[in-house]
Amino acid sequence: MTGQITERVRGVERSSIRAMFDRAERRGGDLVRLEVGEPDFDTPEHIVEAAVDAARSGETHYTPNAGTLELREAISGKLAADRGATFDPETEIMATVGAMEALHLALLGTAEYGDEVVIPTPAYPNYEAQAKLADATPVNVPLDEERGFELDPDRVRDAISEDTAAVVLNSPANPTGRVFDRDAALDVVAAAAEHDAWVVADEVYMGLTYDGPTRSLAADADTDNVLVVDSVSKQYAMTGWRVGWLAGPERLVSELTKIHEATTACPSSVGQKAATAALTGDHDPIDAMYDAFHERRDYVADRIDDIDGIHAAAPEGAFYAFIDVSAFGDDLAIAEELCDDYGVVLAPGSGFGPGGDGSLRLSFANSLENLEAGLDRIESFVADNA
Ligand SMILES: Cc1ncc(COP(=O)(O)O)c(C=O)c1O
Repeated sequence: MTGQITERVRGVERSSIRAMFDRAERRGGDLVRLEVGEPDFDTPEHIVEAAVDAARSGETHYTPNAGTLELREAISGKLAADRGATFDPETEIMATVGAMEALHLALLGTAEYGDEVVIPTPAYPNYEAQAKLADATPVNVPLDEERGFELDPDRVRDAISEDTAAVVLNSPANPTGRVFDRDAALDVVAAAAEHDAWVVADEVYMGLTYDGPTRSLAADADTDNVLVVDSVSKQYAMTGWRVGWLAGPERLVSELTKIHEATTACPSSVGQKAATAALTGDHDPIDAMYDAFHERRDYVADRIDDIDGIHAAAPEGAFYAFIDVSAFGDDLAIAEELCDDYGVVLAPGSGFGPGGDGSLRLSFANSLENLEAGLDRIESFVADNA
């Protein structure tokens, strides 16, 4: 065999969510798929129309690397109006290929070889992968299941050292649905600042917060070490369009825009048009999706409460319930049994890092009818194993 494959790339593990997805595909038949992390809705019509119009009228070329000014102004407007945070569209915002690229560039631009990236877990598995791709060491900080996976600033503080380049805070959180206490999050921002480290605030689910305010972490931090990552993927049902953004201090955003030029150049031009329409256009279809998620959240939380033997804190945001099934054994084995024998697919919690074992993530980005069928099947599993 000729030619090496780097340790950097080989060191990234395949996610167990993907493995469950493949298992479900192989099994086929009558399955309720509740492992999926994306809205089941199609993109609202007016957004699609904006993209079609743009493509027809020749907006099919490269845009500025940071994205069109029109889109950056729309992002800046949303951050100010909905999230209370001020970012200059000319210098402090960069449009990216989904939140994923923003996270990747944020870690590439802040972590050196040998640096550490602190990640409260259970967490979105790509943080660990992206830290490794930046040649940094991920440092997982397990949160306490008994406290509903609330952010524990003392634990995170203990994990921050002079080697820390960045702390990733994701609120509302995937997979737990937890909205972190604001003071706890600000405490982490302060601890990071004391060590000259950044906080990457992944706010992709903030538009789907059910019980509380939706202020960006950057709105309340009095230091300038917060990088906001967000996208149109979740709130606007636009996962396939691949448009997100990063907002932060000019000194970093200008450097990252340079890297952006060398990697993707810019997000798709028609995607940017669609994202602009999403952020500035008719909000009624967006509100309707939000209401549907809210109703599903209430339904799922009530059903889980009614099943003896499992439990989950009511999700405060995103579209996930993180269900403690530890009474029945290993989460991966349970997920496999639920898929193979009961026909309901959930994501094993251990795939989300330390603290996630013993739980399963249920995505309620699905119809009430499917949620009812899926929860009936989970209930049967529990009854059979009681
Ligand atoms: C916490 C979190 N951050 C980022 C992303 C990626 O979002 P995007 O589709 O905008 O790249 C996801 C997608 O599942 C996510 O759950």
